[in-house]
Amino acid sequence: MHFGSTEWLHSDARRTAIGLDLDVEALDWCMENNVNKVGADVSSRIFLFHGNVLQPLEAKLVNVATQYLMQNEILGDSEDDSPDYKLMKDFQFPARDIVCAFNYSCCCLHTRQELVSYFKHALSALNKKGGIFVMDLYGGTSAEHELRMQRKFPNFTYVWEQAEFDIIKRKTRISLHFNLHKPQRKIRHAFSYSWRLWSLPEIKDCLEEAGFQSVHFWIRHMPDSEDIRSTYGLAAGRDIKYEEVTSFQQQDSWNAYIVGVA
Ligand SMILES: C[S@@+](CC[C@H](N)C(=O)[O-])C[C@H]1O[C@@H](n2cnc3c(N)ncnc32)[C@H](O)[C@@H]1O
Repeated sequence: MHFGSTEWLHSDARRTAIGLDLDVEALDWCMENNVNKVGADVSSRIFLFHGNVLQPLEAKLVNVATQYLMQNEILGDSEDDSPDYKLMKDFQFPARDIVCAFNYSCCCLHTRQELVSYFKHALSALNKKGGIFVMDLYGGTSAEHELRMQRKFPNFTYVWEQAEFDIIKRKTRISLHFNLHKPQRKIRHAFSYSWRLWSLPEIKDCLEEAGFQSVHFWIRHMPDSEDIRSTYGLAAGRDIKYEEVTSFQQQDSWNAYIVGVA
């Protein structure tokens, strides 16, 4: 998580990045393994919040980037009796250029109402002169039934598991397992998500309803799940490019980036 943020910060000293997650463990991991390793110049410009994307203003700051906040007058005046933690609403962040939600996070939201509400919050954070919201989504016939896929890496094997797929609710459970090689150890259900697999037109309708000016799809097909049921690393199909499309024929497996323009 937030590798993208640190890249963004490295490439221009004026940039800031804000991360928001419901899972405090994920944020802690990010600080431990990512933020604390990038040097003070970068880590002082990243702000990690613990909270719900459906009530982002109530989210609590969990890392300490206060020196940058003070210098740049991002933190509003705090009252003496204010609690010793800061909420998103206490900040005056500049309008954002990019809001992104990757690794299919939107599938954690289960109702249309939640999805539209989330997209409205994302839009309200964006710069209206060219800001974009970017998210990813996968699909295809293989996405809508039970499936288990393995990817082998030098030090571990990673397993993506889809439980039964309910076609009325479009719900499934996604579990990620890891088999470490040295020392040999299995981490079953390292991550497990109750999942609603949205379709591309549903996402487009909800982005438009939330107020985005236009919505664009960048899609590529993925290697057939039959072929990659057990594959080595990320090499399979790596040379297939994403293309912007307005029509795309169904296949075994595809991956999409969806861009909403503010
Ligand atoms: C599939 S993971 C993707 C994580 C991250 N985007 C990444 O690329 O590593 C989904 C993440 O969304 C978070 N999440 C789910 N529902 C949320 C909500 N309502 N508000 C904030 N975060 C949420 C989960 O805690 C989880 O970390």
